[in-house]
Amino acid sequence: MITATTIDEARAALQELNPDGGKSVGFTPTMGSLHQGHLSLVRASREENDISVASVFVNPTQFGPEEDFENYPRDSEQDSRLLQREGVDLLFNPQPEEIYPPQFHTSVRVKKITENLCGASRPGHFDGVATVVTKLLNIIRPHRAYFGLKDAQQVKVVETITRDLNMNVEIRPMPIVREADGLALSSRNRYLSAEERQRSLCLSQSIFTAAEMIEGGEHDSDVVVARMKELLAPDDQLEIDYISTVGWETLDELRDLRGTVLVAAAITLGSTRLIDNAIVDAGEFPETGEE
Ligand code: PAJ
Repeated sequence: MITATTIDEARAALQELNPDGGKSVGFTPTMGSLHQGHLSLVRASREENDISVASVFVNPTQFGPEEDFENYPRDSEQDSRLLQREGVDLLFNPQPEEIYPPQFHTSVRVKKITENLCGASRPGHFDGVATVVTKLLNIIRPHRAYFGLKDAQQVKVVETITRDLNMNVEIRPMPIVREADGLALSSRNRYLSAEERQRSLCLSQSIFTAAEMIEGGEHDSDVVVARMKELLAPDDQLEIDYISTVGWETLDELRDLRGTVLVAAAITLGSTRLIDNAIVDAGEFPETGEE
């Protein structure tokens, strides 16, 4: 595995790996502290492409001023070992100054679909994501790029950028990888105390219950959200950031659940923010009887 820390090194490595451009390139961007969720993307990239590239970059612009940028877990040696073991050909691992030099003045902003869900509670977050993902895709120029549905709204944001800006890349959304008890894998899970780890299960359980209710024919969002709220049981330790049911295509809030629905929730447990979601088939719209 080649490790590049500068953009020039990354481009030179890609030139060396793919001299006549005839090979397919798969790319998995990450912020490191890698777990099996990340590695599932890397494996798909490895299987579907001739060359597999991953990046590890804790992107400062997607963290709010009160968020955990400084404390975000970093373990580059372990990350590098894991990626090498997965057969990654190139690891791009830049420092912030390489990505954001002093004269950097551009921001990529996706409108509308960033206004609710995580976008509402994390102002500026998706501008940071959109900007860094655009830069990374321009640097690596992959044929396919791999993103986890754990961050479902992020998948929509990336699909929108690449479509709107005519970027020649296929976005490959991958399923959520979970612990055996249901908790979605996340680099932030390591912040949880043993007691919080136990309590965190209410999040995945609320999502599974909502998915079962919707698949079982419940079309009323209020009923589903009320049940999820019961399961999440907010108190001094647990704050509900949002519980939402939105259409998967548009991310518009839905009262009447029909078609493909994203049910999503975010909580803060102690000081750790956790998110989870499911994409559910809520059935057809009822026949109106009109021609
Ligand atoms: P990060 O949180 O490190 O996640 C990197 C990728 O791994 C994302 O596409 C994320 O959705 C995916 N992922 C995380 N946990 C997962 C799980 N349990 N199952 C499946 N996939 C999972 O997301 C980011 O980094 C950043 O915003 C980034 C896209 C790298 C831009 O900075």
